[in-house]
Amino acid sequence: MYLYGTQTINEQGHLIIGGADSVELAKTYGTPLFVYDIQLFRERAKAFQQTFEQAEIGYQVAYASKAFSTVAIYQVAAEENLSLDVVSAGELYTAVQAGFPVEKIHFHGNNKSIEELQMAFEVGIGCIVVDNFHEIELVKKLAEQLEQPMNILLRVTPGIEAHTHDYITTGQEDSKFGFDLKNGQADRAFQQTYTHDYLKVMGLHCHIGSQIFDTGAFQLAAEKLIQKMAGWKKEVGYVCTVLNLGGGFGIRYTREDKPLEPAVYVEQMIETVKQATKISGYPIPEIWIEPGRSLIGDAGTTLYTIGSIKEIPDTKKYAAVDGGMSDNIRPALYGAKYSSLVANKANAEVTEQYTIAGKCCESGDKLIEHAELTAVEAGDLLSVFCTGAYGYSMASNYNRIARPAVIFVEDGVPQLVVKRETNEDLVKQDLPYSRKAVKK
Ligand SMILES: Cc1ncc(COP(=O)(O)O)c(C=O)c1O
Repeated sequence: MYLYGTQTINEQGHLIIGGADSVELAKTYGTPLFVYDIQLFRERAKAFQQTFEQAEIGYQVAYASKAFSTVAIYQVAAEENLSLDVVSAGELYTAVQAGFPVEKIHFHGNNKSIEELQMAFEVGIGCIVVDNFHEIELVKKLAEQLEQPMNILLRVTPGIEAHTHDYITTGQEDSKFGFDLKNGQADRAFQQTYTHDYLKVMGLHCHIGSQIFDTGAFQLAAEKLIQKMAGWKKEVGYVCTVLNLGGGFGIRYTREDKPLEPAVYVEQMIETVKQATKISGYPIPEIWIEPGRSLIGDAGTTLYTIGSIKEIPDTKKYAAVDGGMSDNIRPALYGAKYSSLVANKANAEVTEQYTIAGKCCESGDKLIEHAELTAVEAGDLLSVFCTGAYGYSMASNYNRIARPAVIFVEDGVPQLVVKRETNEDLVKQDLPYSRKAVKK
């Protein structure tokens, strides 16, 4: 059995997270319940940061908050001196509400509206990651109208697609994000921005994939981006000071996943940047990264109560839980795999295999196929591990199921950080329809 972060099992056979008994947490806060091990989040942040510090390289580690965005996690991220990647007015607003230092916020997205960009200027955001030519025009217009300088990074697609253990170089990439490096779009974007009175082109950004277990693709991306920046220096004498290599560092969802330590990804990146800049005679830029899942993914565990159990003779056994695709869409959306444990019988012998089914009206609402567990019965508590990233943040009210509560646990102290939605919340935005009003 593999346990994450601070997890242990107590003498009663209960799963303990952050020093708190999961059985007690479920009794107090109900299920489904997202439980975050905050010490693990802090450790991960430090692991990335310390590697840069030991190498004495300028850096920013930005938490890619699309993975899990709430006021409380932004506050912890600020305590850990992380920067922040936001992708919408909603995430930016949440960060401002959390008191996150705005100068450390980076604004992403492939279709930022003028209102969103205006908000970024108003709050004095640290940098806008400009994605396309339309956005260049919007940012220029706002900067000129407001007479306000703005730092920008140009997001490029370097023609590398990285997934898990493999990557492919695709030349021109079919992506909705960014300026293509090879077909001249990145050059045009640079030409349109680097002499602008208010825009400061800090450098280039790329994000090459997710769940990456290898450093090769990051190294190749770093080389390509540095070559491009060195080319611009040679042509027009402009020096970019930032190289942002995005996120995508893999984590262990199941025993098949073999991620590298954060330090290994960072060490290899630094090494490559040092070599590539030496070759091209370019000053070493600051290296920025944007981990999402590798900071918060395995810090999160979802607790569910098991309800109905259905056995199809000679075929399989289903155990249904009180949540499902409404709080974790990833298995249904792209076949994501998870591991689990019966949290109130954590020491019991594993004897069975179940399909863990959700309660939504979709046959595809299955959280785990082939979950190896001890025999379960209605009322048992199932912990599904590694749900901290893209779980709550992608949750929906499908079937009008209220979204779960979220708690943080640290040093044995649980804190409610997102209240469970109620049925009243579900109809809060609804308005009655009147046939009479139509007829008038
Ligand atoms: C631009 C960008 N940066 C960072 C991330 C975070 O990726 P991960 O959670 O895999 O680290 C994403 C994820 O989609 C992204 O699009």
